[in-house]
Amino acid sequence: MTSNHERVETRLIHGGDEFNKTKAVAPPIWQTSTYKAPESPEDFSALAASINPSEFYARHGNPTNKQIEDILATLEGTESAVLTSSGMGAISAVVLSQVKAGEHIVAQSSLYAATMTLLRDVLPKWNIEVSFVDQTNNGEFEAAVKPNTKLIYVETPSNPLMRLTDLAFIGKLGRARNIITVCDNTFATPLNQRPCDFGIDAVVHSATKYLGGHSDLAAGAICASKQIIDDSWKMMILLGSSLASFDAWLLLRGLRTLSLRMKQHNDNALRLAKFLESCPTIERVHFPFLESHPQHALANAQMSGCSGMMSFEMKGKTDAERFERAQRLIKRLKLAANAVSLGGVETLVVHPASMWRYHYTDEQRKAAGIESGLIRLSVGIEHIEDLIADFEQALSEG
Ligand SMILES: Cc1ncc(COP(=O)(O)O)c(C=O)c1O
Repeated sequence: MTSNHERVETRLIHGGDEFNKTKAVAPPIWQTSTYKAPESPEDFSALAASINPSEFYARHGNPTNKQIEDILATLEGTESAVLTSSGMGAISAVVLSQVKAGEHIVAQSSLYAATMTLLRDVLPKWNIEVSFVDQTNNGEFEAAVKPNTKLIYVETPSNPLMRLTDLAFIGKLGRARNIITVCDNTFATPLNQRPCDFGIDAVVHSATKYLGGHSDLAAGAICASKQIIDDSWKMMILLGSSLASFDAWLLLRGLRTLSLRMKQHNDNALRLAKFLESCPTIERVHFPFLESHPQHALANAQMSGCSGMMSFEMKGKTDAERFERAQRLIKRLKLAANAVSLGGVETLVVHPASMWRYHYTDEQRKAAGIESGLIRLSVGIEHIEDLIADFEQALSEG
């Protein structure tokens, strides 16, 4: 896919314009499950056999998806892209399309919880082996590679611990050993980090988050070479995780303002992270753009901003005390709502130790480094002074 527009802000507004064949400035919602055949029967059978057609059948695609896919491919600097009905739809489609029984995956051990469940619990049932490594240690990735390693899966910054993976190292390792590399870029967005610039083969997104940006849709995306995208599309239509036209329309609308939103998320989060770091009741703040983050230099090398994501740990003498303090703080916050998900215009907080029991036993959670007092924070685009005041009042009560 190509775009004549050089700069990100312009691509977000005009990328994929050619897929809107109507005169409508805001493209219509293609609320139809099927499309009439072209004049010739040969053309119709060719359409039926084509990959990602825009006007054939709803599960196979629609014109709005095409428009968005063009924008996302140019944003991530890839040849092609495909949308899915959720981030997990994207992750499942790309992984399942590239790996088969008897092959091996190397993945980092700090991952979004559902991705972890897919890799740790589901793939081994199909005789796909997965080795988990510490993402902050390049040598562990290299040491885990086997002759049958087909894919390396990373997520940076990782959810919820904000650990970074060295993308240039992973890109080089993958290229040298002929292994496909996949990076979840949900937290950073292509405005702050472009994994394929570092040699990564495929990028996945939960577009439910920053790309949509308004907490009103679920969507996912894969950006990669045409070959990987075609393979993923073929898997995606069998899994049934196609993006519906109304959610695609909302996603396109959200994308228009991505560059403006990310500037405010980046600025607000840095200010709030510095404030939280100065609070005596907080043990530590996980935010790569703070100098205290152990991978601060790597953040500067591969990211231009950190988005609105961070996590922090409450102080406390015992596990139970830290758990209770985290829950108490969340209750006292007035602007920041207690809800899962992230990347929307509004500030959200969540307490992983109490909320992620579906995916982790207490032992697995602790082994993953998710402490009882940890709070994950998605900083919105409210006025920063109002956000600081909200945390100040909530923390002042001890
Ligand atoms: C980093 C990351 N990747 C993937 C996902 C899954 O996205 P979705 O909920 O859209 O399936 C999430 C969801 O929170 C996430 O945080």
